[in-house]
Amino acid sequence: MRTQVAIIGGGPSGLLLGQLLHRQGIDSVVVERKTRDHVLGRIRAGVLETGLVHLMEQAGVADRLHAEGFVHDGTRIAFAGDMFHVDFRALTGKPVIVYGQTELTRDLYDARRAAGAPILFEAEQVVIHDADSAHPHVTLSVHGAPVRIDCDFVAGCDGFHGVSRETIPLSVRREYEKTYPFGWLGVLSETPPVDDELIYASSPRGFALCSMRNRNLSRYYIQCALSDHPQDWTDAAFWQELKRRIPHEAAERLVTGPAIEKSIAPLRSFVTEPMRWGRLFLCGDAAHIVPPTGAKGLNTAASDVHYLYHGLRDHYRDGDDDALDRYSERALLRVWKAERFSWWFSSLLHRYPYQSEFDLKMQAAEISFLRDNEAQQRAFAENYVGLPY
Ligand code: APR
Ligand code: PHB
Repeated sequence: MRTQVAIIGGGPSGLLLGQLLHRQGIDSVVVERKTRDHVLGRIRAGVLETGLVHLMEQAGVADRLHAEGFVHDGTRIAFAGDMFHVDFRALTGKPVIVYGQTELTRDLYDARRAAGAPILFEAEQVVIHDADSAHPHVTLSVHGAPVRIDCDFVAGCDGFHGVSRETIPLSVRREYEKTYPFGWLGVLSETPPVDDELIYASSPRGFALCSMRNRNLSRYYIQCALSDHPQDWTDAAFWQELKRRIPHEAAERLVTGPAIEKSIAPLRSFVTEPMRWGRLFLCGDAAHIVPPTGAKGLNTAASDVHYLYHGLRDHYRDGDDDALDRYSERALLRVWKAERFSWWFSSLLHRYPYQSEFDLKMQAAEISFLRDNEAQQRAFAENYVGLPY
């Protein structure tokens, strides 16, 4: 088969790019390793920057997000039994929208289906060929049947474990990585959220986060050892530990219930450079990973989609390749800022092994500076609601 853009990966990056291109009359084929149900079974963060919301609007898929998402004008940060509020709206004029990544992905799948645009699910042995030539192509097999896709461009949207990044030769590729000495144990429960905003909590027992999906679906996390297994944590032990890490007033209000999902995720910062090789463009988790503190994963994927979409649109509409040529440079400039913010916010709130008394005092001083200084709060809020594209 032949298409203009072969999109490897049917996660949010690939689907959003495909939908934006579709609205410009640019055709694409999405190739996804798993099934639709598998992709929709993944539980990921759910805080959307306005930049991503605008992209969803441009893609014509923002109706449900606006109807069902929750507008959050700020967030709470808890520390040493105290809790303060950062008012995003007052500091930046912008809110964030709380809407699960699963729901956003579902909306994009529905739109692609309605557009009649192709997705090849359960694709195996995906290989990108001749990406550094004028005529790339992709080969794969679906249920044993070989498929060849000839295309003008390949968008590598296949996440951290995909094939796209590794298609770029090691002689050109440079990777930067930091792993953190702890993980996050996450629980989803059909209980009302403890607060109307998110609570990021730093405590002597480690970090905790109170988040939500809707009025009767809450998402909570606690920092845990990398050697822990979800089955080591009974529901009761999880709730008890969470309550010990959040302010007393919130612990008293917390409604607990059975965990309907419980998992542990490691924390990692990762960037690969460049994000383009010939006619292959990396997008989203295929090119970078952030620790979840600050919810920048999906939002940073969205800024890549923005730059790539504009580059492809200019190419097809105006014959202008400037934005495509500058894709890697522009995307990386913003990626590194999101990496910095996620790393800083993680470092601010977690307990690290071997932290000295001095290190703990520095962390405490940094948090109280954030609480007391408006300029610092504004810088925090600008990063949280999303830096401009
Ligand atoms: N061929 C085809 N598809 C592949 C391949 C492959 N070889 N390898 C992986 N995939 C698919 C995965 O099954 C997945 O559905 O690519 C998709 C990548 O999706 P994500 O990992 O969700 O990455 P991305 O779309 O960039 O989404 C951004 O933001 O909140 C963060 O990590 C979170 O998923 C989120 C990300
Ligand atoms: C979530 O709701 O899963 C979530 C929210 C904010 C974060 C990370 C995860 O920083």
